[in-house]
Amino acid sequence: MPRHFITGTELSAQELRALVERALKLKAAPYSSDALRRRTVALIFQKPSTRTRVSFEAGVAELGGHPMVLRTDELQLSRGESIRDTAYVLSRHAAAIGIRTGDDELVAEMAAHAGVPVINMLTPSHHPCQALADLVTLREAFGRLDGLKLAYVGDGNNVARSLIEVASRAGIEVRVASPDGYQLDDGALGVLTEDPREAVREADAVYTDVWVSMSDDPATAARRRQMLAPYRLDAELLDRAAPHAIALHCLPAHPGEEITAELLYGRRQRIWDQAENRRHAQKALLELLIDA
Ligand code: CP
Ligand code: NVA
Repeated sequence: MPRHFITGTELSAQELRALVERALKLKAAPYSSDALRRRTVALIFQKPSTRTRVSFEAGVAELGGHPMVLRTDELQLSRGESIRDTAYVLSRHAAAIGIRTGDDELVAEMAAHAGVPVINMLTPSHHPCQALADLVTLREAFGRLDGLKLAYVGDGNNVARSLIEVASRAGIEVRVASPDGYQLDDGALGVLTEDPREAVREADAVYTDVWVSMSDDPATAARRRQMLAPYRLDAELLDRAAPHAIALHCLPAHPGEEITAELLYGRRQRIWDQAENRRHAQKALLELLIDA
């Protein structure tokens, strides 16, 4: 059976920590691995992407492989071919399949039928590749993961869920502050609150994400902006965290909405490192899954 990466919890705490160290080694020596030499990785995009597409394409190429980007409207999937049949065919050509889609079930079905690892490149409920890159960024910024405190303020969305699931597993204490109606329903691994000031207390990093995600109904946008406005990540909120605290955001950002331009482009952020670390983290992930 291939090893899939759908929620991120497929990896043990030890594997997550090893992956972060491997990603940092690959960052220091980007052309040191030929793990994908002469192999193809299929990357299916049913939703827009800048970072995920660019970091996977560049990362697969750096590993000596061929990144095959497929938009769903170009596949027979768009004309009714099943996920099962698509999975069978792609598995005959590619060493791994990445997929970004608005349907979590579709990824599960792809994984059930694929003969090669399936990687979740974002669904409405999960964004585990982002969480891996964020672990790399935190490890770079603080020299460790264990015992760090990470606060997430804003919409209880896919990015928040993956942070709770993946970062907690790696030994980080995660607190999520969201308003009523926008909270995660699964706080088992992290602390959920409505109070952003309480969430950021003593935090080493304060993270936010957009208020309207790709899977959200655009008709809810105005209400979301109103409800989430008190959760904006600004200098005043960051000042309430630890003195050395950094601001994080998975991007794309809406400066002036969920984060101020001052923080997004300022000295106290590691946001652009997060974007770069997508490539290094995903290269380490591909090495791990394809060797399995
Ligand atoms: N952070 C992230 O996944 O960005 P893209 O939507 O641009 O891929
Ligand atoms: N929560 C955002 C993340 C984008 C990378 C979305 O799903 O649109």
